[in-house]
Amino acid sequence: MLQDPYGRRFHYLRLSVTDVCNFRCDYCLPDGYEGDGPSGFLSVPEIERLVRGFAAEGTRKLRITGGEPSLRKDLGAILSRCRAIDGIEKLAITTNGHRLARHLPMWRDAGVDQINISIDSLDARVFHRITGHDQLHQILQAIEQALAMGFKIKVNAVLMRGVTEQGMTDWLGWLKQTPVTLRLIELMETGDHGRFFNQYHTSGEPLLLDLLSRGWTRQDRTLDAGPAIELSHPEYAGQMGFILPYSKDFCTTCNRLRVSATGDLHLCLFAEQGLSLRDYLQQDDTTELRHALRRLLQDKGAKHWLDEGKTGATRHLAMIGG
Ligand code: GTP
Ligand code: 5AD
Ligand code: SF4
Repeated sequence: MLQDPYGRRFHYLRLSVTDVCNFRCDYCLPDGYEGDGPSGFLSVPEIERLVRGFAAEGTRKLRITGGEPSLRKDLGAILSRCRAIDGIEKLAITTNGHRLARHLPMWRDAGVDQINISIDSLDARVFHRITGHDQLHQILQAIEQALAMGFKIKVNAVLMRGVTEQGMTDWLGWLKQTPVTLRLIELMETGDHGRFFNQYHTSGEPLLLDLLSRGWTRQDRTLDAGPAIELSHPEYAGQMGFILPYSKDFCTTCNRLRVSATGDLHLCLFAEQGLSLRDYLQQDDTTELRHALRRLLQDKGAKHWLDEGKTGATRHLAMIGG
């Protein structure tokens, strides 16, 4: 089991398979990003060795992220090869929802358990303004399909001052009958978007307190739960979650490690430059990789650098996989 000097255990790996994305979210890639092309990304055999090494060190949950992972033509092979690895009990994917309905059968056949989808607003005009895309309706329909197919669904909405507060009535109306978890994520400062952050960042705590005063209750945390807070309400089919990275103690329950699309290990979303693992992925034997992981983990810091006003090497979240 991978463990850091603070006693935190890491059974969850977030692996980005591309940093390219076809959406243009204001807080992430407002000008779009096509990257340098796929040549630098980890290949399927490299990914398989990487995940085998992590799984041998105790990783049980794997999330495939991006950029937008579905832009990789070999995503099906990545998913099914990862799912078949001994120890991987849960396979999840984070997507912007582009052409979601079309991907669902393949994702189900590959063994995906959970899909997290970004939707910042249920107002089609606001959704379009934020993402540069006009697909809200299709994404909502695809979510119904995904639920019927048995996927566990979480929806991520980034909290933006003046946007999210106005949308709460819509969200709650939707959650009444839709069995998904909606997570409000506090906007995080990234290297490229300091101005956007200053304009739109707002604390999620008032919204959390408001829900608690209206019959929502905090769910008991499981031992291996990550930093998100989850709430439920007897009259709602859906649940609410809060990701509040600026709150005290957020990092004490950190349970995840990240690897970028080019094979760099990130010990935190906001910290130092990634540490390249690629050399270790050139042979089938994962012994050296496993030694390296144990050693590198000893440098994980107690918390992210955001409180100190520093974003580390993180220019935007698409480059690390969120
Ligand atoms: P679950 O596996 O369902 O708990 O999802 P998740 O929250 O790990 O995955 P998802 O890809 O949906 O992440 C949502 C976003 O929450 C991330 O992209 C980040 O923006 C934020 N987030 C998740 N984990 C962390 C974390 O450890 N630190 C910080 N600062 N933000 C995080
Ligand atoms: N702050 C908070 N959340 C962000 N995301 C992307 N950039 C940021 C940011 N600066 C979210 C996306 C997606 C998830 C993977 O991360 O909206 O839901
Ligand atoms: Fe793409 Fe996600 Fe970034 Fe939006 S937040 S631009 S969907 S990577």
